[in-house]
Amino acid sequence: MKKYQIHSFTTAREAALALAELILSRLKQSIKLSKPLNVAVSGGNTPKILFDILAEKYTEKMPWKFLRLFWVDERCVPPTSDESNFGMMYKSLLQHVDLPSNNIFRMEVEKNSEAELAHYTEILNRQLPEKDGIPLFDLVLLGIGNDGHTASIFPNTMELLDSNDFVALSEHPESGQKRITLTAKTICNADEIVFFVTGNDKAKILAEIIDEKKSSKKYPAAHITNNKGQAIFFLDKEAAKEISAKELQSYFDQ
Ligand code: 6PG
Repeated sequence: MKKYQIHSFTTAREAALALAELILSRLKQSIKLSKPLNVAVSGGNTPKILFDILAEKYTEKMPWKFLRLFWVDERCVPPTSDESNFGMMYKSLLQHVDLPSNNIFRMEVEKNSEAELAHYTEILNRQLPEKDGIPLFDLVLLGIGNDGHTASIFPNTMELLDSNDFVALSEHPESGQKRITLTAKTICNADEIVFFVTGNDKAKILAEIIDEKKSSKKYPAAHITNNKGQAIFFLDKEAAKEISAKELQSYFDQ
């Protein structure tokens, strides 16, 4: 199987719709196996269109009670802040769907981020199955920043790619905003990793990563694949436009 599977769509909305269908199909597979689907989600701006579509079209279609929701990372701000990844998802999706509150495992970073490190590590160990002694997610949804970061693993915190911890403290390189993030150890242990990336400003970095250019090694996102060495990309045409044609596979594209 190829390292990267690329799904390119005309618009971000079509990419989000296809990603919603992937999540639905994974949930249905989980139900057949009588087990929940353990998913870790990223924040930032990109996933909002996915959350909006899930709230708009999937409130009844999605078997929400089989979904167990974790976070890839969180900004150390109150959940009511506009900066909060949980807050953004709550406002755009969670308040509109019947996802049981005990299926939602928020990073409670607003109190004491050091204490939350231990608390969230314990949550992962207690609430998830493990593979090779590492918490095992069924699916991790990631974005990519304009500097090639993913989760809150930044080009100046590459040590989080090799950390033996499952969760770590990080800091945004420009704003200095404190973050809590899953480390690569936890993320790359997942059965499935999906990068959801849209917009023109990601096109160059994305092409370097997907075409596996040497220059991409400075981007944390270039080091992230699942427990089989693979990753899936859901892209709009803007983000995909500099990827060499041989890599592009249009899927659901109109
Ligand atoms: C965060 C995210 C982060 C995000 C990228 C892309 O907390 O900001 O988890 O990793 O996925 O920064 O962000 P945009 O979607 O806003 O471009």
